Amino acid sequence: MPGTKKVFVKTFGCQMNVYDSERIAESLIPYGFTETDCLEEAEVIVLNTCHIREKAAEKVYSELGRLRQVKEDRRASGKHTIVTVAGCVAQAEGAEIMARSTVVDLVVGPQSYHRLPDLVFRAQSESRRIVDTNFPEDDKFASLPDRSIARPAAPHSARAASAFLTVQEGCDKFCTFCVVPYTRGMEFSRPVDSLLDEARSLISRGVRELTLLGQNVNAYHGAGPDGKDWSLARLIGAIARLDGLERLRYTTSHPHDMSDDLITAHRDEEKLMPYLHLPFQSGSNRILAAMNRKHTVADYLRLIDKIRAARPDIALSTDVIVGFPSETESEFQETLQLIEEVGFAQAFSFKYSPRPGTPAAKIDEQLPEEVKSERLHRLQAVLAFETSRFNEGCVGRVIPVLFERRGRRAGQLVGRSPYLQPVHADGAADLVGRIIPVEISQAGPNSLVGVIRAA
Ligand code: 5AD
Ligand code: SF4
Repeated sequence: MPGTKKVFVKTFGCQMNVYDSERIAESLIPYGFTETDCLEEAEVIVLNTCHIREKAAEKVYSELGRLRQVKEDRRASGKHTIVTVAGCVAQAEGAEIMARSTVVDLVVGPQSYHRLPDLVFRAQSESRRIVDTNFPEDDKFASLPDRSIARPAAPHSARAASAFLTVQEGCDKFCTFCVVPYTRGMEFSRPVDSLLDEARSLISRGVRELTLLGQNVNAYHGAGPDGKDWSLARLIGAIARLDGLERLRYTTSHPHDMSDDLITAHRDEEKLMPYLHLPFQSGSNRILAAMNRKHTVADYLRLIDKIRAARPDIALSTDVIVGFPSETESEFQETLQLIEEVGFAQAFSFKYSPRPGTPAAKIDEQLPEEVKSERLHRLQAVLAFETSRFNEGCVGRVIPVLFERRGRRAGQLVGRSPYLQPVHADGAADLVGRIIPVEISQAGPNSLVGVIRAA
């Protein structure tokens, strides 16, 4: 029975937040809520926030400004609204949010989502503002509702054929630029059995592709049913054996944890897609050391060779930061060189952004904004060239595409290649959720166009 109360969740930031947003919405379903994509009809509004760069955090405050009017309009027609800030901004700036933005009723950190129904109830019934940013002893995943509960497709999970599954959270790496170890806490791996149960639930809901998520997913070491700690490779092997699942991915990995059994899985596990997101951040050994990355350029290149030996067609993706404090022009050039040497199919590039409480923010030699912008501009030109080259290499090939949704144009479908490129092709709507061979006819900067070859 769908509930009568409505929850609206807006997601900022990474895929882990997309996953968390789904679990947040689901946590309220047993209490009579359904999810809505209409802000004005929501009794509970949740902003699931990101603190990774300054801009990401600022977006939250401007969104809260907008919410003030929505809340006032609802109040004028006699309706109560609980505005909740969740996610990493909540964790990092809980009390500050309350002080800066009086529209907020509830602040809840990423480790407390299972307590959300109770917190909402208390905020409503006691008419008070609550901050919950503890790292509780209880396992939130064990307390969240079973995912096989009937729920209408959520507005933000349009990719119903493909779902995220968080297997690991937190990070102990302490890269000097990064807030994650402070906002998400120490590394924690979920037990294998509960992941297999959740994977089965998702498959029974029509999911064909799973992306295993973690801030440091390849450091996964969850308790297996045999009482031993399982590696990510072992977990992938077990999930790959579930009937009905056709594709597996994982992200984000750290070079330091790219173990041999995981590399071998790229050769042996048919369902594991030929795509790997492996951030290197900088092509300069001095900057890598200052970042506390625990790897050198040579380590990274050696890894890439091993991975390509195991899976020659693998599409490689990465994250790069330009303008880390004290980075020189020639060190930046080394980053460009590394990019050209590896040949990435995809990359995400960022200007260094000082984050409160992180060691790098305290380094004296912060670079001027213009230098960072100019480097980013040059870097992105190189990356765009690389991505186009990779995409053009697909033209003329027949590639299996998992169709995920209808396109904007009538009769058009959108799916993903094994290499994660969006692929557009004309076809019947009932092909959504299926993997179909598509002959690629055109390559754009960020997507492919093709013709369905057989259904
Ligand atoms: N400034 C710029 N980029 C950052 N990232 C993380 N912290 C910062 C920061 N302070 C980037 C890294 C990371 C990605 C998720 O965000 O490249 O891999
Ligand atoms: Fe942040 Fe480094 Fe951990 Fe990645 S590995 S989450 S960049 S501290």
